[in-house]
Amino acid sequence: MLIQDIIRRKRDAETLDADAIHAFMRGVADGSVGDAQIGAFAMAVVLNGMTRDEAIALTEATRDSGQVLRWHDLHLDGPVLDKHSTGGVGDLVSLVLGPWIAACGGHVPMISGRGLGHTGGTLDKLEAIPGYDVTPDVDLFRRLVKDVGVAIIGQTGTLAPADKRLYGVRDVTATVESLPLIVASILGKKLACGLDTLVMDVKVGNGSFMPTPDASQELAEAIVAIGSGAGTPTSVLLTDMNQPLADCAGNALEVHEALRLLRGEGRDSRLYQVTHALATEMLVQAGLAADAADAATRLETALASGEALERFSRMVHGLGGPSDLAERAEHYLAPAPFTTDVVAPRAGTVNAIDTRALGLGVVELGGGRRNAGDAIDHRVGLSRIAALGQRVEAGQPLLRLHAASQADAEAVTRQLGAAFTLGEAGSVTPAAPIHATLRQETSS
Ligand code: URA
Repeated sequence: MLIQDIIRRKRDAETLDADAIHAFMRGVADGSVGDAQIGAFAMAVVLNGMTRDEAIALTEATRDSGQVLRWHDLHLDGPVLDKHSTGGVGDLVSLVLGPWIAACGGHVPMISGRGLGHTGGTLDKLEAIPGYDVTPDVDLFRRLVKDVGVAIIGQTGTLAPADKRLYGVRDVTATVESLPLIVASILGKKLACGLDTLVMDVKVGNGSFMPTPDASQELAEAIVAIGSGAGTPTSVLLTDMNQPLADCAGNALEVHEALRLLRGEGRDSRLYQVTHALATEMLVQAGLAADAADAATRLETALASGEALERFSRMVHGLGGPSDLAERAEHYLAPAPFTTDVVAPRAGTVNAIDTRALGLGVVELGGGRRNAGDAIDHRVGLSRIAALGQRVEAGQPLLRLHAASQADAEAVTRQLGAAFTLGEAGSVTPAAPIHATLRQETSS
């Protein structure tokens, strides 16, 4: 099959069959398809779109472009399941959810990413823990998934290698913004982990990856149809990112917050509500709970017994971190040298938050990367972030800044203060943390 013919057919808005798509993606993975051809193909998809069947084939071809993890030889005593998020600010759900699901009988092989743009990355958060190795060999990864029930690590070179190349070309050819390309990229990587079921957290709002609520909804619908079409039952929660999910953002600060939740504290937070809802969906979808009420009982037992925290501690230690992180977090997670409050210039109610600006503030403090390969300062970030609908008086804190130096703090103070819009009480109703749940057959 001639690669230029496949590109020509997509350019002319023809529908490609699965064989053509698999042939193209095999060539992407083995290097026989050149960057110019990848760019031309991606642009043709951006301009002409793909049918549902084409998008499913592209997802399967991405998944199958490298190693696909298999678990049956390990004789696991529960399903293999995972959650993935489109990313946000103060979104530390994975750190809590993975161990929590493991404590309920699931096995979670979670391949996570680094921070991207204004959004934080699970790997960066875990690397705030001294010794934690995000690139273990595959045997250790599999052993932890079997024995502990969860291991959160970084992308390996062998899983979905075609995506790495395709994404690299899309990034520099203005072809990131295409629904079938985005879905195949996200799901191809996830499904290569050999999952029985998947739950996606698609963020909606001004801190999310998708530019509008309609775009988030469209992405969510495509993920449900394409994931399930590729053979892995997939559901999506649309969750709010019009403000940071936790009241903190920054790597070490978010590890502290994860430990707090795993200890059973902070149950009135939006972070808890979203994590609990995702966990419920995962347990029911994978058959670990009969229904939402059963899931709630199991989740409560896992938290109250200390089992969820124990799974987190075992994962951390198994991947090279300290065995007593949970007991001595203050000792292991170094605080930032300088803290100061960003205060409200006048009294009012927080009616809007520029979530993206807060995420970029963390990057500017050194807690994220401007360029791939930049070193990260895990100590820095934001805490005590005022929530939408919260009343503040003049001079009261909007957030606390954790910086490497006073100069670093001063450099971002104005922009972070400007991220908050203060107005009349009651003039804006903050969105609920969970907007909707989409499943293959039914939507609610
Ligand atoms: N995240 C991915 O992994 N791929 C995309 O194409 C977009 C976001």
